[in-house]
Amino acid sequence: MIEVRGLQVRYGGRLVADVPELDVAAGECVAIVGESGSGKSTTLLSLLGLTEHAEVSGRVRVCGVDVLTASPRRLREIRGARAALVMQSPQAALAPATRLGVLMRRALRLHGRTDVDRVMARALEAVLLDPEILRRYPHEVSGGQAQRFAVALAIALGAEVILADEPTSALDVTVQAEVVGVLHRLRAERDLALLLVSHDLALVSTIADRVLVMKDGAVVESGPAAEVLARPSHPYTRELLEALP
Ligand SMILES: Nc1ncnc2c1ncn2[C@@H]1O[C@H](COP(=O)(O)OP(=O)(O)O)[C@@H](O)[C@H]1O
Ligand SMILES: [Mg+2]
Repeated sequence: MIEVRGLQVRYGGRLVADVPELDVAAGECVAIVGESGSGKSTTLLSLLGLTEHAEVSGRVRVCGVDVLTASPRRLREIRGARAALVMQSPQAALAPATRLGVLMRRALRLHGRTDVDRVMARALEAVLLDPEILRRYPHEVSGGQAQRFAVALAIALGAEVILADEPTSALDVTVQAEVVGVLHRLRAERDLALLLVSHDLALVSTIADRVLVMKDGAVVESGPAAEVLARPSHPYTRELLEALP
């Protein structure tokens, strides 16, 4: 679902992300970890062609679309619907005066879905949210609920790929576990390809199949999550692990 080769992203000539290889298959979860400023978000955004004012080179295929050469129209086909981005604070991205139900209904219609009520009910059930949430405004829900609503929206739209940027950093530990649990289950049930960006190695270890460790824009280590965690080969990865509580 995601295939990256020789991706390089530059801002004003400065190389901020250099990813030689990154693949995520359906039903698989890959995590990018690294401290703040290491190039994780830039990498994620470039996969959907969302890095503004950046020079991007290499090859990026998402849902069969060549992102770096695709027409705006072709990109719109995958963005949002087939490949969904879940941000750190989805509440900030939601229109404050629009009830969540209205928002979801609108998004579904926009993407040509019929059978809207049934699709909404099933998506909410999948993320363990009470349908009552549809009557609320964004400021009336908690961070964890907003995060799960963002995932429900992605699922309702039929996402095959979910790109999540620090989806739980703003949440407390119990809620984090809830959101990760939901993503974990959905990946298996719906064969989702999940690319998770996080600075939290402990969290990642509970869900990811493979891990890429980034530092200063470069991938310093990558491999099966269990291996990287048990036997980190790069000093920076060891540092990240030692920093865990
Ligand atoms: N729009 C932008 N313009 C210029 N520099 C940027 C832009 N976005 C990110 N950067 C720079 O790229 C580097 C990587 O940032 P980012 O990908 O956000 O890191 P992370 O998500 O790992 O914290 C940082 O040095 C940041 O300042
Ligand atoms: Mg970031």
